Amino acid sequence: MNLFDVYPLIPVTPVKALGAKLWDDQGQEYLDLYGGHAVISIGHTHPHYVKRIEDQLNTIAFYSNSVQIPIQKEYAEKLGNISGYPEYSLFLCNSGAEANENAIKLASFETGKSGFIAFSGGFHGRTSAAVALTDNPKIIAPCNAREDFQILPWGDLQAVELRVKEGNIAGIIIEGIQGVGGIQVPSPEFLTGLAHIAKDFGVKLILDEVQSGFGRTGKFFAHQWVKDIKPDIISMAKGMGNGFPIGGILISPEFKASYGLLGTTFGGNHLACAAGLGVVEVLEQEDLIQKSADLGAQLKEALQEIPGIVEVRGHGLMIGIDLDREAASVRSELVKKYHMFTGSAATKNTIRLLPPLNIEWNQLNSFITALKEVLAQSPILK
Ligand SMILES: Cc1ncc(COP(=O)(O)O)c(C=O)c1O
Repeated sequence: MNLFDVYPLIPVTPVKALGAKLWDDQGQEYLDLYGGHAVISIGHTHPHYVKRIEDQLNTIAFYSNSVQIPIQKEYAEKLGNISGYPEYSLFLCNSGAEANENAIKLASFETGKSGFIAFSGGFHGRTSAAVALTDNPKIIAPCNAREDFQILPWGDLQAVELRVKEGNIAGIIIEGIQGVGGIQVPSPEFLTGLAHIAKDFGVKLILDEVQSGFGRTGKFFAHQWVKDIKPDIISMAKGMGNGFPIGGILISPEFKASYGLLGTTFGGNHLACAAGLGVVEVLEQEDLIQKSADLGAQLKEALQEIPGIVEVRGHGLMIGIDLDREAASVRSELVKKYHMFTGSAATKNTIRLLPPLNIEWNQLNSFITALKEVLAQSPILK
């Protein structure tokens, strides 16, 4: 049987990984500045994380949400404290799209309305409601398209207010920092304005922190760079499990739970919670959120000096580098000659950096040197 061929592949076969390093089947070492789509938060095969999962696997790996699962409560307690949202509730699922799907559903249940607003450049996943709020017509199947879902221009508060006043809007969804869209940071005025509109009109504000959460940006959530923003729902995944499939939403206390309102077979299983706890424990023990803030600031400063780079955006270790040329050939040269993985974005001249948060400065420095060399050599393809 063949694999359904939907992924363009980098011609490398990693077989081993540790920290920010990968090794292929020929023994060649690679530096991981992309973390497999922002997933690797605490570093590949972190010993504490591995032990947490191993110990759990040897005890009980799974039972469904029809019995008491104390490790879920332990995880919720820990997550509430580290995220700064101890009064919120946690619902666990298995991926980012699923987290957004539940967030959208919950906002709709609570308001009794069906309309949603998202923004240009946004990416919220590939499932039915999440994809309908994603700004990429190519991945929206006819069965996903919805007339009451609207994608409005990024930063346009007036357009949001007009649409909300027309009625039937349950929620507004926005990324803490846009990832796939090319590392676009919402201005404090934009986020604060959305929060005000949401409050004034009884609309739910959903912060999609799937890519930008779990310390990635130097705060636990990216929206925490803006003072006094308290979303109604926060969606999470990716760095949450460091490779173990886990997602979830944090839900403000204004929502009332009832049996059957949301549900999942796999979400919140013992093994996933052990992986999740392993991640937050390492974030704390190694002070990785602060490390991300510090390393990111240092890296941004150095990148800004490189000829061929026209803009550097982002916070912490979620960085977008805009080049004066298309990024694809630069990225493939970084893989082939320098053995470094970086990420692409919807904007063709952007390199996306999402390394493990425990990457070392000398590793980032070797990337700076490599990028400088590639940009000095390669022709400008406008
Ligand atoms: C901001 C954001 N939301 C949601 C998703 C969907 O997550 P998943 O691929 O885990 O379904 C992604 C994935 O890239 C994302 O970047």
